[in-house]
Amino acid sequence: MRILITGGCGFIGNHVVRRVLMIPGVEKVVNVDALTYSGNLDNCKDIIDDRYRFVHESINNKSAIDEIIEAERISVLIHLAAESHVDRSINSVKPFVETNIDGTRILLESVVDSKKSGTNIHFIHVSTDEVYGSLKPDDPPFTEDTPLNPQNPYAATKAASDMLVQSFVNTHNISAVITRCSNNFGPRQFPEKLIPLMTINAMNKKALPIYGDGKQIRDWIHVEDHVSGILSSMLALIVGQIQSGEVFNFGAENERTNIQIVQTILKNVGAEESLISFVKDRPGHDRRYAMGYEKANRILGWRPEIEWDTGLSDTIQWYNDNKSWVDSITSGEYRNYIENQYGIDN
Ligand code: NAD
Ligand code: DAU
Repeated sequence: MRILITGGCGFIGNHVVRRVLMIPGVEKVVNVDALTYSGNLDNCKDIIDDRYRFVHESINNKSAIDEIIEAERISVLIHLAAESHVDRSINSVKPFVETNIDGTRILLESVVDSKKSGTNIHFIHVSTDEVYGSLKPDDPPFTEDTPLNPQNPYAATKAASDMLVQSFVNTHNISAVITRCSNNFGPRQFPEKLIPLMTINAMNKKALPIYGDGKQIRDWIHVEDHVSGILSSMLALIVGQIQSGEVFNFGAENERTNIQIVQTILKNVGAEESLISFVKDRPGHDRRYAMGYEKANRILGWRPEIEWDTGLSDTIQWYNDNKSWVDSITSGEYRNYIENQYGIDN
């Protein structure tokens, strides 16, 4: 296997890079990342392996992607590069359309071009539960058959990219699988997302901004469990255990309200609940996500392994132990973003 990973310097991507290097038979791992605000070279700085190569490039540069695919004789492409934050997509959707839709289109065209010249590339498309929309309190969890019904601009661009992948499977007969996962947490997540933002603010005794009533529900999964799901789907596609175009949902049966999470973080850090600050709700805020994973369990033998309590306290410990990582991120662009988003100087 000669693997191209897009977005390998992001939160989930760096865990994927580490894990693919542990798979027997992997000859090459190329990480293509544009190093946007959420991409961080430091996330991969301890990856020292002759088989690993980093390329600072955008997925939107088709000739560069074609060149890498050809020169490195790529046989598998794991696509994680994206604009990933819902709040930013509400402020400006353009980069989301460019990367999530058009960037995916370019990678798909590169895969088709390779196929025409005799090389089949397996395409692993990493997507999200947000494409299904929002659940009511008593609804059963999403399944792979739940109709796509994205409710925010980020989710709409992810749903569009999923549909592009499916259309390329149907019309160009490429080999692809789509994975959809619930909310990830773990080390090296950019602190614009709920868990690292609240952890870092609690540690620094700063305000914890909860949107609306804080009773929105997410199904939280440790990033390493998500990576296991991505890699199980990849291997199943390569050996022909599943058909091209299949979708797999990954979740953790771990539904929590935002307020519950923030209270747990405060307790863990030893900070006061008075730091909680209820702020204006996110426009169009999805109320509840929950991901069923019966199909992944039945076909891939996958299930989440990491307990919420240990996963969360280890994650909080990681942010506490890695203050230089936090400090390097929470400056410059990040400070401006926080000030504009919440009207507070963090
Ligand atoms: P992230 O924002 O931490 O990382 C995204 C990475 O993509 C960054 O390294 C960034 O530099 C890179 N990137 C952005 N635009 C690029 C471009 N044009 N060319 C090359 N690289 C580019 O995001 P994440 O949380 O690691 O998410 C990774 C993927 O997983 C995304 O596709 C996201 O939709 C999906 N996903 C995330 C979650 C979650 O909870 N974080 C859950 C389900 C699915
Ligand atoms: O569900 C998977 C998705 O999870 C991924 O596809 C996205 O890339 C990822 O960003 C994440 O989206 P969410 O919007 O669910 O995650 P976020 O961490 O931004 O917010 C989680 C919940 O916490 C959500 O209900 C909004 C709330 N929240 C978030 C922030 C940043 C707050 O109340 N206050 C905040 O400051």
